[in-house]
Amino acid sequence: MSQDSNSNHETQDTVKVSPVNRVRGELRFPGDKSISHRAAMISSLAEGVSTLKNFSSAQDCAATLACLAALGVKLERNADTVVIEGAGVTGLVQPQGMLDAQNSGTTMRLLAGILAGQSFAGTITGDSSLRARPMLRVAEPLRLMGAAVETQANGCAPIRIQGRRPLQAIHYRLPIASAQIKSALLLAGLAANGITTVVEPATTRDHTERMLPAFGGSIAKQGNVCSVAGGQNLHSCDLSIPGDISSAAFFVAAAVALPGSNLTVREVGLNPTRNAFLTVLRNLGADITITNEQLVGGEPTGTLQVRHVELDKRATLEISGALVSNLIDELPLLAFLAASLGCGMNLRDAKELRVKESDRIAATVANLARMGARIEERSDGWQLQGGDKLRGARLDAFGDHRIAMAGAVAALCADGPSEIAGARNAVAVSLPEFWELLAAVTD
Ligand code: S3P
Repeated sequence: MSQDSNSNHETQDTVKVSPVNRVRGELRFPGDKSISHRAAMISSLAEGVSTLKNFSSAQDCAATLACLAALGVKLERNADTVVIEGAGVTGLVQPQGMLDAQNSGTTMRLLAGILAGQSFAGTITGDSSLRARPMLRVAEPLRLMGAAVETQANGCAPIRIQGRRPLQAIHYRLPIASAQIKSALLLAGLAANGITTVVEPATTRDHTERMLPAFGGSIAKQGNVCSVAGGQNLHSCDLSIPGDISSAAFFVAAAVALPGSNLTVREVGLNPTRNAFLTVLRNLGADITITNEQLVGGEPTGTLQVRHVELDKRATLEISGALVSNLIDELPLLAFLAASLGCGMNLRDAKELRVKESDRIAATVANLARMGARIEERSDGWQLQGGDKLRGARLDAFGDHRIAMAGAVAALCADGPSEIAGARNAVAVSLPEFWELLAAVTD
């Protein structure tokens, strides 16, 4: 891989990615982004001092910490360790000015749930991408709980939340499978006057449910129904956060695609609500072994060993239904990988991808078409035909960290150099180290 050194702003943010031979080496990833957000927020609601190790290096999680500090939480960060002195479930203080969630949907939605149970009003804003994403999905159930929530006329942020104490417990069936909304309601439920129950239409990541008991919270879960009682106190907890499987996925994909690759990923999160990417690749015949499985802070972790083997190019990945939530952040990557392998992919039921950090259906289809893939856009997914090697092309990150990194993986496997506009800085939203890590394991 090489990177250009042009001087004007646009080209400085363009990364030139050349094909490589293989991926080899050993990696350990910064803490999982979803788990880090929750650990910071739940520590802030606890009583006592929590120490969080291997905290995510993502800009998104830095945004969460800055919002919590603005809400009066005392916290200190030293490299990947964050120490938080909790304020208690309803002990936050009114911020001066708006809280800025930057690019982070998880920050905005989970924090909205927390603010709903406080005794003041706060407004959360974000960057232009986040300000274009739907917020009625969190505003509506929080209104049912008694908070006064105002969005913009288009249902987007800035979003103003006038908290109410206590909130009214609700029984709520989520219209859309969303771990962010489920978590927002469970966190709000801690400040409600009864039992709040959330029913999901499909299983989504369960980090909040796993983490609350570690902080002394009690939560009942059966299938896709979870309930939390209001009025509980949480106590502090020291946690080590497992490596981010969604970041590791880019490197795993490159190792699966490139002959001669042999990659080890240590201490990565293997939560069953997040591991479908690995399952899909193993079902395709990829050689991925898992060793050293452990439970760390209630989260399954392990070491991955990925060795390249030739895969059947006639295969077509069929992804739809309940599988979509488990794979939601890896779907663009899976398309870039399938195309790099010469395989097909048929994705349905994934229209949520249209309201992520970018319209990930449009972005994936546009970039893969530029690389010569035969791909058709659908309202809720795409249809990719298996075919020849991808060609190097000029791609666009579309302001989206995962589109930048997925494009980079395909570019490593293409038949000539590619350029990805807007990719150098975009990766910092979830993995600022991406380009250095990629350079370290490719040759
Ligand atoms: C996340 C949940 C998912 C995912 C996002 C992180 C979380 O979003 O796409 O990157 O931390 O809860 P939804 O819950 O909106 O599907």
